[in-house]
Amino acid sequence: MLGLDKLKNTASQKWRRACFSVNYKGSTKEGQACTISPGVPEIRQALSAQGGGALGDTLSSTPIGEPRQKITVATLKEKKLRGEPITCLTAYDYATARLVDEASMDIILVGDSVAQTMLGYENTLAVTLEEMLHHTRAVRRGVKHAFLVADMPFGSFHVTADDALRNATRFVKEGGAEAVKMEGGKKRAELIRRVIDAEIPVAGHIGLTPQSVNLMGGYKVQGKTLSAIEELMHDAIALDRAGVACIYLEGIPREVAAMITAEVSVPTIGIGAGPECDGQVLVFHDIVNLNFGPPAKFVRQYGDAAKLIRNAVEAFRSDVLSRHYPSDDESYHLPKETRQALETVLERKRSMRS
Ligand code: KIV
Repeated sequence: MLGLDKLKNTASQKWRRACFSVNYKGSTKEGQACTISPGVPEIRQALSAQGGGALGDTLSSTPIGEPRQKITVATLKEKKLRGEPITCLTAYDYATARLVDEASMDIILVGDSVAQTMLGYENTLAVTLEEMLHHTRAVRRGVKHAFLVADMPFGSFHVTADDALRNATRFVKEGGAEAVKMEGGKKRAELIRRVIDAEIPVAGHIGLTPQSVNLMGGYKVQGKTLSAIEELMHDAIALDRAGVACIYLEGIPREVAAMITAEVSVPTIGIGAGPECDGQVLVFHDIVNLNFGPPAKFVRQYGDAAKLIRNAVEAFRSDVLSRHYPSDDESYHLPKETRQALETVLERKRSMRS
């Protein structure tokens, strides 16, 4: 039996040679995966030896065996099939995006939570398409390996399907996003299908959808009654059938998230949706204590950037006030010859005055 690494290398080497005999499946449940034709039995055999099932027939089109793999839609699907957790964090600017990418996150989401975290709006409704594009471009410049998803803001896909398609295209063309995220379940399925038909991967988002805050009457956990659970299941299945790359599940009971995760073929990424999801996402500002409010129940803080920044800013201010900053070492100096010449000139002026 082949080891996993050897398997990956074998598969990767054979991949290019085998491409002519690979059939792409449509934008159905299989998403962008492709099947190996009977012409490459070694690959099929090797993959089934690794666990069989659907994975045995599925290969990523990304180069495998390089120091760090570029994450694609196919990689995410493979992770679900292999039962490997998917990691996702939001980022809104170049510096943070670089750090998050360098920490090997699978997905970086330019969430419309940028509205509150970076722009100080009360909720996500106000953030504009241009603002989202501005942040997506900055994040793009910092990301090399993660799969880059950008949120379509409120109003950018709610008016007409043509507008939605045009706006989704801008995220790919101008923002460098690899997928767009749209809130909503079955009522968005047709639109999502259209966007996918235009070669743009889509991430779904159901449960507590912040863009529906006025309709929901606040940020409330969803899916708590039998009829609400049924509704959510229908939403998830509609998105899966529409061919989404993954489904974000926000603010729902873990039991419901577990049922959805078991039901759909694509990865689920949870936030406040319990541990059974295929992956987890949190908002960057929440995990480093930069949100200026009490954290939600599901937030875990992994650092205290507020404290770090406050201490740094206060120390700088205090050094300036006490003239401890800048020191001589932190100053530029004249070259020796210029300094000597300057001293001669100043000395001559002084002697002329006296
Ligand atoms: O905008 C955002 O940050 C999100 C995540 C919470 C999923 O949509």
